[in-house]
Amino acid sequence: MAATAVRRRPGDAGPAETRRLEQVFLATEPRVELRVFASAEDLAAAAAAEFTARARAAVSQHGRFTVALCGGSTPNRLYTLLAERRRPGKGRPPWGKIHVFWGDERVVPPGHSDSNFRAANEALLAKVPIPEANVHRIRAEARSPGAAAALYEQELRRFFSLPLGRFPRFDLVLLGLGADGHTASLFPGSDVLREEARLVAAPLVAKLGTHRITLTLPVLNSARAVMFLVSGGQKAEALAHALEGGIGSEALPPRLVRPRDGALLWMVDRAAARMLHRRTLKAPAPQPRQLIRDRT
Ligand code: 6PG
Repeated sequence: MAATAVRRRPGDAGPAETRRLEQVFLATEPRVELRVFASAEDLAAAAAAEFTARARAAVSQHGRFTVALCGGSTPNRLYTLLAERRRPGKGRPPWGKIHVFWGDERVVPPGHSDSNFRAANEALLAKVPIPEANVHRIRAEARSPGAAAALYEQELRRFFSLPLGRFPRFDLVLLGLGADGHTASLFPGSDVLREEARLVAAPLVAKLGTHRITLTLPVLNSARAVMFLVSGGQKAEALAHALEGGIGSEALPPRLVRPRDGALLWMVDRAAARMLHRRTLKAPAPQPRQLIRDRT
């Protein structure tokens, strides 16, 4: 796995730089929780409950809930379950106060079958009473990927009233995990992993032969909570590397996702967890009291 996961390419971080990256990020000890579910359905149901609880807590704390959605196929069941909670009410997401953003997007128009916006819109957003103005999609159809990234950075700075040098603090960021160890559109060995100033980047993903638009690590690590959704045996090796490290996984993007002052939840199903060591599975979860505090 090591060779494929973090194959070095020209311009990639050298061993010294990789070690520095590792030290910088490992110095940050987020509150990490690993939850293993018997099935993808149980995982999606628990993720919907977590989404709803955090949305309600955020709205009661500061009047709105800001969430960055992820792409790929894994979150679709979560989006469908949330759409079933369309009628506001007790224990339901406060749709009117929810602002939706994206962690990454493909360089396609919003109606394209590869569009992360389209996938979330069809499965969720078009079915719930969320104000159109609260849907902040990445305008990937802009004249260039770089222009789309710059537009989204402006939108984030405007919405979060951010002075230069400050990063938005999302209430929740959803992330998936690729079998190659990428998350959002942060791919192993990519220069974008060293980004420390920009909020949004448009890296060229050599293996896909195309650009992607993605939030950067400083943004992910400024969140109140990051929730990884990982399902299926094909993700087992990448998950083991992400959680347990090991040779060749130093600068694996998910290992660099360490919210400075936030919670890190790994929501995985048993198939994806099949290669995890017993000690990882036995690691004590944070106390309920701590988790509730995390929701503020
Ligand atoms: C994307 C995603 C990406 C995704 C992983 C996992 O735009 O593709 O944001 O990071 O989460 O590739 O994808 P699956 O859930 O389809 O396995």
